[in-house]
Amino acid sequence: MIEIKDVTKTYQTGDIAFQALKGVTFTIKEGEFVAIMGPSGSGKSTLMHILGALDTPTSGKYYLNNQDVSKLSEDHLADIRRDQIGFVFQSFNLLPRATVLRNVMVPLIYAEVKEEERMTRAKEALKAAGFDESHFLHLSNQLSGGQIQRVAIARALVNNPKLILADEPTGNLDTKTGEIVLGTFQRLNEELGRTIILITHEHDVAEHAKRIIHIRDGLILSDSKTHNRRVIKHS
Ligand SMILES: Nc1ncnc2c1ncn2[C@@H]1O[C@H](COP(=O)(O)OP(=O)(O)OP(=O)(O)O)[C@@H](O)[C@H]1O
Ligand SMILES: [Mg+2]
Repeated sequence: MIEIKDVTKTYQTGDIAFQALKGVTFTIKEGEFVAIMGPSGSGKSTLMHILGALDTPTSGKYYLNNQDVSKLSEDHLADIRRDQIGFVFQSFNLLPRATVLRNVMVPLIYAEVKEEERMTRAKEALKAAGFDESHFLHLSNQLSGGQIQRVAIARALVNNPKLILADEPTGNLDTKTGEIVLGTFQRLNEELGRTIILITHEHDVAEHAKRIIHIRDGLILSDSKTHNRRVIKHS
């Protein structure tokens, strides 16, 4: 599904060049659940922006579903983001005066899906993110932090992307609420076969994935199956 080959990224600020990625290579198959872990400044978000077609590498190749993403135009990148990838960001703002259900329907408006189908698909995505119908009409001030983050997950799912990219999705949550969110990712991976890439600087969080890619100073330090994987039980 994903093939990254010798990818580098250099940021140019005035006449100072900084190489945030120094040659990164890996492949990720459909159905994997991978954590990308590393300290602050190691290049995680830079890598996520490339994987998410939000940015292109300075050199090297990126193939997503056998398509060379490295050199596509802005318009092409936008199509890929809309059709193939679901994003979950660290801080997520719900539309404050819209219900949970409306918030999840938003991406489908851009995809020009009809109103009735938008409703059906938003309900399915909310169920997949662990909500029951009693919460569909709540407003954001009637939700817990974990529930807000799960609305963000539902919104990432609603276009049916095969790939879900999450950058520090539990960064703002307490441990218990964070575990509920991580359990939701595990269930999406196990039961719906979604490919998940989880970005984090915390080892405890990375251990919920099946594979951990460790990065530091723009280079891969290690890439291996998770030892002592943490699995969240759900009812
Ligand atoms: N737009 C930019 N222009 C210049 N330098 C940048 C830019 N974005 C990131 N960098 C630099 O690239 C390096 C990697 O940044 P990146 O955001 O990928 O780190 P990170 O691993 O996501 O860190 P964190 O855990 O703090 O989010 C940092 O040294 C950062 O200062
Ligand atoms: Mg970051």
